[in-house]
Amino acid sequence: MPIISSPQDFNVEDLYVDLRPVLGCPLYLKCEGFNFAGSVKLKAAAQMVDAAERDGSLTPDSILVESSSGNLGVALSIIAAARGHRFVCVTDPRCNPATMRLMRALGAEVRVVSRPDAAGGYLASRIAYVRELCASDRRYLWLNQYANPNNWLAHYRGTAPAIDRGFPGLEVLFVGAGTTGTLMGCARYFRERGRPVTIVAVDAVGSVTFGGVPGRRLVPGLGTSCRPALVDESYIDDVVHVPEADTIRTVHRLSAHGFMFGGSTGTVVSGAERWLAAKYPGADPVAVAIAPDLGERYLDSLYEEHWLRRHFPDLVPELFPGAEPDLQEPAEEPCAAPVGAPADAPGGEAARELTAVTDLTDLTDPHRSRP
Ligand SMILES: Cc1ncc(COP(=O)(O)O)c(C=O)c1O
Repeated sequence: MPIISSPQDFNVEDLYVDLRPVLGCPLYLKCEGFNFAGSVKLKAAAQMVDAAERDGSLTPDSILVESSSGNLGVALSIIAAARGHRFVCVTDPRCNPATMRLMRALGAEVRVVSRPDAAGGYLASRIAYVRELCASDRRYLWLNQYANPNNWLAHYRGTAPAIDRGFPGLEVLFVGAGTTGTLMGCARYFRERGRPVTIVAVDAVGSVTFGGVPGRRLVPGLGTSCRPALVDESYIDDVVHVPEADTIRTVHRLSAHGFMFGGSTGTVVSGAERWLAAKYPGADPVAVAIAPDLGERYLDSLYEEHWLRRHFPDLVPELFPGAEPDLQEPAEEPCAAPVGAPADAPGGEAARELTAVTDLTDLTDPHRSRP
């Protein structure tokens, strides 16, 4: 019976879903959503904060700041709350409003950068904002998940050894690529031990991480509009790019069997299914994919009919066969604005509200930042 006194001390590391009954192909899904942060990001957040406390860069005076599409922000909000640190999360309109509310409820301050960057995403704009913030006040400490080696070390020390223990005969590992911390930590672990594991990176169509053409992406978590500093392709055996329509089809297929996962899991599972059908037709390799989080945070987007009507209308008849074609949309669009949309685009309400209530230097509001 685990008894804990710090929220990061609990994490289910050994739960896998056998997806054969759902997909008809051999794939075990490692579930990373069963902890207080609800995602794989708790590990990276804990490792980065621990290292900064150890090396003295994080002091009681510091204000943590990080660019996150949501999950790292939630994980850092939890750790900051547990340890009495202040935390500012810089995000963009694709972050789910519920996730923003969660971070604020945990005492973090959320700032939304709604100006798209040159690649049509928000990453460069978010990072430029973080740099400005750090230049404005020496108390800000940017952990920089995109370049911080403690991000991949968390998976080198935690996620990969756990998979190795569970599947000593592992042949193929599918890992989604966001910052590539999970991917690089796992890839380094198996390569350095000389293990014959094929490492397959799964990315979204429209992401530039592996040199793709930048394009619209609405599903948070995977993909980048700037190549992350952590990525090293020499450790990666293959890359699969998944269109977001397939991501959405896949999460709905999984939820139809009672397994509600987040969007990036849909991407990874869809890419794994396609890759296995092409490379191991009719065969039975030992294959594992990593599911970074669960589905509840996406109820207002990937699982929501109006959101799908707005962003993926072609999918609606397939996913909601009984839906009325002339269904009224709700007065308030519940999820994020599309990439490239102006701040006042439909769906940007929550983001705009948060942008409006926050201020570059105002860290004194006790409802938005830790005293
Ligand atoms: C839901 C989700 N999936 C996947 C990832 C990607 O993980 P990584 O940054 O380790 O590549 C993230 C990272 O934030 C995430 O939140």
